[in-house]
Formats: sequence, C-alpha cells, structure tokens
Amino acid sequence: MSISAAQHTIHIEQLRKSYNEQTSGDMHYIIKDVNLVIKGGEFFVLLGPSGCGKSTLLNMIAGFISKSGGQLKVGNIEVDKPGRDRAMVFQQADSSLFPWLTVRENVEFGLRMSKVPREERRAISDRYIQLVGLGGHESKFPKELSGGMKQRVQLARVLANDPAILLMDEPFGALDAMTRRTMQKELVNIWQKTHKTVIFVTHDIQEALLLGERIGIMSVGPSSNITDIYSNPMPYPRNIASAELGSLYDRIQSHFDE
Ligand SMILES: Nc1ncnc2c1ncn2[C@@H]1O[C@H](COP(=O)(O)OP(=O)(O)OP(=O)(O)O)[C@@H](O)[C@H]1O
Ligand SMILES: [Mg+2]
Repeated sequence: MSISAAQHTIHIEQLRKSYNEQTSGDMHYIIKDVNLVIKGGEFFVLLGPSGCGKSTLLNMIAGFISKSGGQLKVGNIEVDKPGRDRAMVFQQADSSLFPWLTVRENVEFGLRMSKVPREERRAISDRYIQLVGLGGHESKFPKELSGGMKQRVQLARVLANDPAILLMDEPFGALDAMTRRTMQKELVNIWQKTHKTVIFVTHDIQEALLLGERIGIMSVGPSSNITDIYSNPMPYPRNIASAELGSLYDRIQSHFDE
C-alpha cells in the first residue's frame, strides 16, 4: 500500500454507539463491537436494513457524532471531530445546497471559505462541474434544477473540496431509476479518476453490487454489527444482469430473508 493510501485507511475496532449514555441503567447500543478496515482508495458499500445504524456509523466516521467505545482512526489519527480529509454526501441535496447561490457559487463555497484565490476557484469548479455533467448550468439556481441535477451539484461541491474520503449516505435514494443508474456510472468514473476512498451506504442490493469492491452486511439492530463482507471483483462498468452478480445477489439476499 502506498503512503497516501495508508494515511487514508480507516481502522475501526470494537466500535460502539449508544445515544442514551447519560441515563442510568442498561446501555442500549445501536451498533456494538464493529470491526472493520477500509483501505485508502477502496470503494466500500455498507448494506443493511432501515434503522440498523448505517447513518450512525457513517456519522461517526465523519466525526459528526461521538463514539461510545472502541477505536476509530483514519491512518493513525483518532477521529474525534470532522476534518477536511472527510466529506459527506447526503440523501437530500435540498437540505445541503444554498438556494440563494448559483450552481457555480455552491460548488465554490468551501473553496471560498478556505480563501482559495478566485482564479483557482474558477478552475476547480469548472473541472468538477464538467466531471458531474453540469456544464452549461453554472448560472442556474437550485430551484431551477431537477433532483438529479441538485444531487450532482452536491457531489461536485464535495469533490471540489478534494477530501480523501467520500462518505455517501444513500445519496441516490431519492432519484428515479434512470437518473440513479446514470449517477451510479458517473460515481464509478469519478472514483476511478480520483482514487478516493468511498464509503457508500445503501439498502439496495443491486446498487451495492454495481458499485462496491466490497460489500459489508449490517445486521438488524439493536447492537448491530457488520456480520459478513463480500468481495466483488467484477470489472466496471458492471452488468446487473450477469450470472456472477446474480449469484452474489442471491447470497446477499439470503441474509435478509432469515
Ligand atoms: N440522534 C439520535 N438519538 C437517538 N436515537 C437515534 C439518533 N439517531 C439515530 N437513532 C436511532 O439509531 C438507530 C439507527 O439509526 P440510523 O439512522 O443510524 O439507521 P440507518 O441504518 O441509517 O436507517 P435508514 O436506512 O432508515 O437511514 C435507530 O433506531 C434510530 O432511531
Ligand atoms: Mg440512514
């Protein structure tokens, strides 16, 4: 592993989360004793039923919420707050875009905050607006965009800040099936070009199969855990109708039939 990949490897050991730490009596753990290593540059999918604690785990990796026990490190640095190495793409772009800013201004927002000079900002925003296929829409406001376009703006804005680790919490869940397929393909292209670590949360098995190099299965909560990890070595772009993905689909589905 290269030095930079090692720096961005996520190490999770015996990680736990309870939201009721202040109260006395039995601790109610949402997730309990999760062990996981995600290598720098890997595309990892976290798959599990609603309410099992996927967002909780992702929010801990983002540093938005604190852990209740165990270890969580990026490289050899303990995560205890958000950092510029990590960025989150949320399910609903609406709640994260600024309605009074244009597409370009939204994408440049983080760069402006970190005082990147105007010319450089422009070059970076151009690059990512093109990458997500929004060229020609730079001057539009969020209300003039479709749901899929807004989600692309959110993705471009996160990418413009150049985080090593991309945390994606059901980012395409609200999109129609066709837009969703397009976005999935674009995300794989972007990942292949940028070599970022991606942790992608979904409860859609097909989406997990199309995207991840590995798929971690989370058990039903409480005290949920990652019970199995499947490797998916199929080359991209993947064909969901292929026999290989079909048999992997059946194996993964069987976890949720029980
Ligand atoms: N801030 C909070 N305070 C108390 N309990 C919470 C909080 N956030 C989440 N929970 C609880 O933790 C559990 C896991 O929630 P979480 O949002 O992590 O699940 P999820 O797997 O992301 O579900 P979904 O697929 O529906 O998004 C749920 O039982 C939820 O009620
Ligand atoms: Mg969630």
